[in-house]
Amino acid sequence: MPDSRLWWQDAVCYQIYVRSFADSDGDGVGDLAGITSRLPYLADLGVDAVWLTPFYTSPQADHGYDVADYRDVDPLFGRLDDFDAMLAAAHDLGLRVIVDVVPNHSSSAHAWFEAALAARPGTPERARYLFRDGRDNGTPPNNWQSVFGGPAWTQVPDGQWYLHLFDATQPDFDWDNPEVGDEFESVLRFWLDRGVDGFRIDVAHGLFKEPGLPDVEAEQNVGGIDEAMSELDRPYWDQPGVHDVYRRWHDVIASYPGDRMAVAEAWVSSAESMARYVRPDELQQAFNFHWLEAEWSADEFRRVVDETFAAVDPVGAAATWVLSNHDVDRHVSRFGGGSVGLARARAATAMMLALPGSAYVYAGEELGLPQADVPAEARQDPTWRRGAGIGRDGCRVPMPWSGTASPYGFGPDGATPWLPQPDSWAALSVEAQQGDEASTLELYRRLIATRRELLPQLGRRVAFVDTRDDVVALRRDGLICVVNCGDEVFDLTALADPGKLVVATGHTADVRNGSLPPDTAAWLHA
Ligand code: NOJ
Repeated sequence: MPDSRLWWQDAVCYQIYVRSFADSDGDGVGDLAGITSRLPYLADLGVDAVWLTPFYTSPQADHGYDVADYRDVDPLFGRLDDFDAMLAAAHDLGLRVIVDVVPNHSSSAHAWFEAALAARPGTPERARYLFRDGRDNGTPPNNWQSVFGGPAWTQVPDGQWYLHLFDATQPDFDWDNPEVGDEFESVLRFWLDRGVDGFRIDVAHGLFKEPGLPDVEAEQNVGGIDEAMSELDRPYWDQPGVHDVYRRWHDVIASYPGDRMAVAEAWVSSAESMARYVRPDELQQAFNFHWLEAEWSADEFRRVVDETFAAVDPVGAAATWVLSNHDVDRHVSRFGGGSVGLARARAATAMMLALPGSAYVYAGEELGLPQADVPAEARQDPTWRRGAGIGRDGCRVPMPWSGTASPYGFGPDGATPWLPQPDSWAALSVEAQQGDEASTLELYRRLIATRRELLPQLGRRVAFVDTRDDVVALRRDGLICVVNCGDEVFDLTALADPGKLVVATGHTADVRNGSLPPDTAAWLHA
């Protein structure tokens, strides 16, 4: 039986990529008023919380992950009043709101960086960032490469260089400088005072760099964001100092009423490293990216589930599952694309939502959206500009809500979305799927509603049931989730005590008769 629970421990959180969700004013870019207008849809979907990607003042070089003012809204997305209205409307609907905080770097348009550029080397203004002299031969201070491709250093006119693990417009702060920590405590308080329920912490594992900024081995300088973010043996990832920051943040968050929380975006090498971010005096959640990185394979899924609980149980934390977000190919496409990829994506989601812990759903995955093919001339991701692959635009294409032609209700008719929407998306819109029991939208609604209904009877333990090697069958108290990752139909009646079918991700009639086809999941309940 479940122990007492805090809301976020089992929450289904819906990630909104703000530019791509709903455009209220027709400029082609999603905004806060657009989100407010679509909140009833999210309440109806049954999610507990929304996470909004950055909407703060920003030149948008990395679509808001380059913040110029942490305490204001960019005019592209509205005003602070629009934020307050959105927050109040969400709370009225029983939805919690998580906002992004970007502490590793600011925009080069931030007042602190502008002051640093105007100041001389060695001044307090420069000491908020990582300015260094170059090497004698005129090269940068070390050989680090940016996650977005190219050197991680840019030279300023007086000859010094500044570090940017991402784009040159995203200078890294120096977290050894106490002014930086104080500033971010104040930023957290600004949004907590406004009433947010939590934070998603960008690059949570990156704030501290190894003292002396040592070179990396030449072969560690990989290209491409996927590798750069997940190859973790680097002097700038997961340094011990980050945990002191999160202990401080824990106290700040805990000093506010209402079980507020924070979730770390920490790409770390092992489940144990991930678990260090969710020790009792640190953060509440850390995305389990090992789940998102798992291939379509029963062995892989079992391994990640086992390793996750082996790591989070000893620190008393709940797991945090995620399959898609705005930085990776959508899971329909990762699992093979087309009808097979969609079937697998639906099944993987069913497994994620059966597991104990919280789950993050990325806007559009409830429609079964695949990765879109964005033509080169329309691509906007800085990683594309810097030569680190085709970039992430394909998972950021604006949502199709209704109608038969772009903008599909994303914005007013006639508006041109900031990224082109594929013609084939008419069939994937909310309007097209609504009420169709076979649709992915109705499947998500059913899974989330059933999860909510069963949750009071479900504990935190999960055990694998022995079945075929290519089938994952996990039991969580009265709920069994079976996923067929193999090529042959699986006979559900072979399970001891299977219970009744409550949800199937494929043809329900077959499954009800005991046949679970390949690439399909079923939830059975006593
Ligand atoms: C991780 C964010 O999710 C990604 O979109 C961004 O580009 C980098 N951090 C840099 O802030």
